[in-house]
Amino acid sequence: MQVVASIHEMQSLSMATRFKGSLIGLVPTMGALHAGHRELIRLAREKADFTVVSLFVNPKQFGPNEDFEKYPRDFEADRAVCEEEGVDLVFCPTAGELYPEHYSVYVEEEMVSKGLCGISRPHHFKGVTTVVAKLFNIVRPDVAVFGQKDAQQSAVLRKMVEDLHMPIEIVVGETVREDDGLALSSRNRYLTPEQRADARHIYEALLTGKELVDQGNHSVDRIIAEVTHTLARSRRIRVIYAEVVDRRYMQKMREVVPGESLIAVACWVDQTRLIDNLKI
Ligand code: PAF
Repeated sequence: MQVVASIHEMQSLSMATRFKGSLIGLVPTMGALHAGHRELIRLAREKADFTVVSLFVNPKQFGPNEDFEKYPRDFEADRAVCEEEGVDLVFCPTAGELYPEHYSVYVEEEMVSKGLCGISRPHHFKGVTTVVAKLFNIVRPDVAVFGQKDAQQSAVLRKMVEDLHMPIEIVVGETVREDDGLALSSRNRYLTPEQRADARHIYEALLTGKELVDQGNHSVDRIIAEVTHTLARSRRIRVIYAEVVDRRYMQKMREVVPGESLIAVACWVDQTRLIDNLKI
């Protein structure tokens, strides 16, 4: 497995790989790799001949009071995961090279990114689209894989690729969950055992919403009332949003359209911000 930090070297290697006719699959990550990432890597390997994982904690997608400084960084552990999963190349650029002095160009999606997490994290998706567009230009993948846990991020990036005519297939891997349903996330590492125990109510809440839909109830008001009621089982949980949206554009819906809707939740478990969603 190759490890490359230089942008120029990465571009030369992608060019040579493409020249040989190999399809490149990219899994963009911020490291702190877990079983959810392993699943994304497996998907990339199925779809492509040459698999690249990028490891970069992108400062541009964190707000001033967010967890950029404390975000878990463990290069050796991440490298071992990539090696185990048969990754061909790990790309780990430096912030200095990606965002040199006088850096001034951004990519912004103006619809899908505005609701849900876009309300409480107003600059987040601009940071995500910018760094992913840069990674796409550097790695030149044919396929890029993201996780369904970050459903809004995946929808925003699909829209970016569509609107900017980037010849890249976006593949979304299913959310991997712990036994009690908690979606895997690098931020779960911040939870104390007590907070971790209470965090199970997030998935439980999504399931209560889905049950209502399965029973034929399509009223969004009713579903959201049930979801927030279940989240209130923990006094550590503060709801940031609980919404039913359409899966493609992440716009609020008044009635569930089965097969096209998503219940999306963000909440604080004490000081840790967690998100999750379920297709309904
Ligand atoms: O999902 C993530 O880990 C990040 O938002 C991404 C896509 C790697 C961009 O920094």
